[in-house]
Amino acid sequence: MKKIAVLVSGRGSNMLALIDACEQGTLAASIELVISNNADSLALLSAQKKNINTAHLSSRTHPDPDALDIAMKDLLDSYKIDFILLAGFMKKIGPKTLSAYKGRMINIHPSLLPKFGGQGMFGLNVHEAVIEAGEKETGVTIHMVDGEYDKGAILAQRTVVIAKDDTPESLAAKVLQVEHVLFAETIQKIIDGSIILPAN
Ligand code: GAR
Repeated sequence: MKKIAVLVSGRGSNMLALIDACEQGTLAASIELVISNNADSLALLSAQKKNINTAHLSSRTHPDPDALDIAMKDLLDSYKIDFILLAGFMKKIGPKTLSAYKGRMINIHPSLLPKFGGQGMFGLNVHEAVIEAGEKETGVTIHMVDGEYDKGAILAQRTVVIAKDDTPESLAAKVLQVEHVLFAETIQKIIDGSIILPAN
């Protein structure tokens, strides 16, 4: 059974969808660890209620960025994690963790990358920008994590049609529904070999 760590910052609905998929057996993996940069995130509480091990790692626990990076890598190593999933994680991953888990770290983004990605493009900002640009469709991207925001190889995308009366909030809700399905589905395809991860 592949061991997964999920990195979160906020609400954690994608994390919960991944946990559900594991419980239901549609994702043949075990979520061993949830890490948040935010001690008060709802995601940490939700994971604890599911009896999943959690950790808070941030500049508050480790003011020195290098020490934070090492603490994250050491924690992941101690759980023998196979895949790291970024599910609404809003911080950059340190270079040591990145290189140790290169090719095994995957992010979900609420747009059709390369459109509406990059620094500052997270959560509602993305949907506001999409509507402002007059797009007819948006969607979800699952991609590898590399050193730059939203730039790694794309593994899966799914489109969401934008209605004339969509607001950033209504669009976020539609996109989120697709996220909850596509993330687990894509990770399962990696596990069963129908998606081969690029060597990176
Ligand atoms: C999700 O929409 C995710 O795609 C997005 O943050 C939200 C987290 O929601 N991630 C990004 O924007 C990354 N750039 P959740 O905490 O309920 O899963």
